[in-house]
Amino acid sequence: MGNFLAGKVIAVTGAGRGIGRAVALAAAAEGAKVVVNDYGVAVDGASPTSEVAEAVVKEIEAAGGEAVAVADDISAMAGGQRVVDTAVETYGRVDGVVCVAGILRERMLFNMTEEEWDPVVATHLKGTFTVFRAASAVMRRQRSGTLIGFTSGNHQGSVAQANYSAAKGGIISLVRSAALGLHKYGVTANAVAPVARTRMSANVPVRLAEIGEPEDVAALVVYLLSERAAAQGVTGQVYTVAGAKIAVWAQPRELRSVYAEGSGWTPERIAEVLPGSVGTDPMPMLSELAAMEEAARAASRPNAR
Ligand SMILES: NC(=O)c1ccc[n+]([C@@H]2O[C@H](COP(=O)([O-])OP(=O)(O)OC[C@H]3O[C@@H](n4cnc5c(N)ncnc54)[C@H](O)[C@@H]3O)[C@@H](O)[C@H]2O)c1
Repeated sequence: MGNFLAGKVIAVTGAGRGIGRAVALAAAAEGAKVVVNDYGVAVDGASPTSEVAEAVVKEIEAAGGEAVAVADDISAMAGGQRVVDTAVETYGRVDGVVCVAGILRERMLFNMTEEEWDPVVATHLKGTFTVFRAASAVMRRQRSGTLIGFTSGNHQGSVAQANYSAAKGGIISLVRSAALGLHKYGVTANAVAPVARTRMSANVPVRLAEIGEPEDVAALVVYLLSERAAAQGVTGQVYTVAGAKIAVWAQPRELRSVYAEGSGWTPERIAEVLPGSVGTDPMPMLSELAAMEEAARAASRPNAR
C-alpha cells in the first residue's frame, strides 16, 4: 500500500465496475477510506442490485483497506446526498468525490425518445451535480477538498449518442463552474476523459486507436485527489487518459473576431464579411467521420480485398 491519499476520505460513484472500481481500489491502496457507490445497473441503466457495490467493499477489506457501500441511485438528489452523508457519518469528513457512474442509450437524434434522453442526462450530468452539491457544502466548511467529474472525448460530438455527448459537455462546464465558485474555499475541481477497456467501451461501434486499462485512469485520479495536485494548482482542467497517454484539453476561447462598422450588422453585411474574417473553426470529428466513411466505401468496393 502507498500513502498518496493517507488519511483522506474519498467517495466514488459507479465504483462497482470498470473505471470506478479501479479508482476505489487504487484510492484504498493509497491509504484512503472509501465510500463505494454503485446502483448496480446494466449498461442501459436497468435492473439495479446492491451486490455490485458490496463486492468492491469486500475486495478493499480483503486487501486491508476500509470502505463502506452505498447502493443508491445518484441521479436522485437523495442518492447524491447519501453518498456524502455516509462519508461524513462513517469517517467524519469528505476530501474527494469522484463521479464515475454512467449509462448509455444509443440512438440517432431523429429517433431518440424522451426515455433515451432523460435517464442518460440524469445519470451523468445530474448525477455529478447531486454529489458535487452535497460534497461542496462540506468542503466549503472544511476549506479543502477535490471534486472530479467524468467526461468523454465525445463531448466534442457524437453520431448516435447526442444524449451522452450533451451530458458530457455539461459535466465540463459544471466542473469549470465548481473550480471557479469554490476556488476561494481551497477546493479544486477537474474532469477526466478516459479511454479504457470496460463493458461500456466494448459497446463502442468503432475501433479506438488509443485505449488502456481502468488502472491507468485510476492512477491519474489518485494524483488529482492528492495534496500534490492541489499544491501544483491543478483546477478547472480536463485530462484525457488513454493507456500510456495523458493529454490536457484547451480552455474554450474566442478564436477570431470582427466588429461592425457604422450602424451595425445586417445579415447581408455578415454574409459579405464573416467568411473572410472570423470564418469557421472546422470540426476535427467531422473530418474523422468523413475519413471513416471513405474507408468503409473503399472496403465495400467489389475489387477491395
Ligand atoms: N470506458 C471508456 O473508455 C470510457 C470512455 C469515455 C468516458 N467514460 C466514462 O467513464 C465512466 C465509467 O465508465 P465505465 O466504462 O467504467 O462503465 P461501466 O459500465 O463499467 O461502469 C459504470 C458503473 O456505473 C454504475 N451506475 C450507473 N448508473 C448509476 C446510478 N444512477 N447511480 C450509481 N451508479 C450507477 C453502473 O452500475 C456501473 O457499475 C462513465 O462516466 C463513462 O461515461 C468511459
